[in-house]
Amino acid sequence: MESRTSASITSGKFEQREQKRRSLFSHTWKEFIPKVFEDVPQYYRSGNIVASLGLWELWVWQFINTIELRPGYQALDVCAGTNDVGIRLLQKQPDISVTAIDRSKEMQAEGQRRAAKYHVKIKSIVQDVHTLPFPDNSFDVITLQAASRHLQLDKVLPEILRVLKPGGHFYHCDMLKPSTPMVEWFYLRFLRMSVAWTALLFRSTEASRNCGEYFKDAIQHFYTPDELSEVFRLVGFAKVTCRTSIWGGMVGFHDSQKAG
Ligand SMILES: C[S@@+](CC[C@H](N)C(=O)[O-])C[C@H]1O[C@@H](n2cnc3c(N)ncnc32)[C@H](O)[C@@H]1O
Repeated sequence: MESRTSASITSGKFEQREQKRRSLFSHTWKEFIPKVFEDVPQYYRSGNIVASLGLWELWVWQFINTIELRPGYQALDVCAGTNDVGIRLLQKQPDISVTAIDRSKEMQAEGQRRAAKYHVKIKSIVQDVHTLPFPDNSFDVITLQAASRHLQLDKVLPEILRVLKPGGHFYHCDMLKPSTPMVEWFYLRFLRMSVAWTALLFRSTEASRNCGEYFKDAIQHFYTPDELSEVFRLVGFAKVTCRTSIWGGMVGFHDSQKAG
């Protein structure tokens, strides 16, 4: 894994990029993405493993390894889906409390079923994450995995910063725009195909079968690891560091803090 620190985006560029993402994807985020996540909860994890040629588990394991937990911590998992992150946090440190927030009741229902299967308790809140229903300075740790491509970062990141305690950590992990055009070219084509074959294999609904093009476009208009570090700094996070995965910077693991 490689450490990155260099800056590459300004506040003007961030504003423009967010406007562009909103103009391209706001309809998809509102109408199409909820349909995709209605359909996938039961096979979400196995679907990810197939689509990533087995690398999903390595990615999640690497992410959880970056997270420092102490007994008594309050943790929030944003866009928690089927609670894959929350369950692993509790397995790593059972003496913490985990709250999950996601707008898909179907993903969270599966998440509660999985939490029961693993004998852990996770508080579930079903709502959109662009406004977080918590007081300022509530959480020691906030996680966000595999979802920021579907979000308006200029809205959700200030909310995450607001509800994080001073000194608390925000851990982010997602597929990012590769820094190298050649890697990006192969990656985007692979992504479109892998989403299509996974949807076929798991006999998904039309919404999931048709989301390959959006997944490709969402990455194309997203941030490189360095740009995302700079976005976090612009929003007000401190001590931002990023590691990229072994496969060409396509997955980034960011650790940021709220100044305390
Ligand atoms: C690819 S899944 C990731 C789930 C989980 N973080 C994981 O890594 O397994 C993306 C999740 O983001 C949620 N999501 C997308 N947009 C959202 C929004 N605006 N508000 C709340 N949840 C959202 C979806 O419902 C879905 O469960």
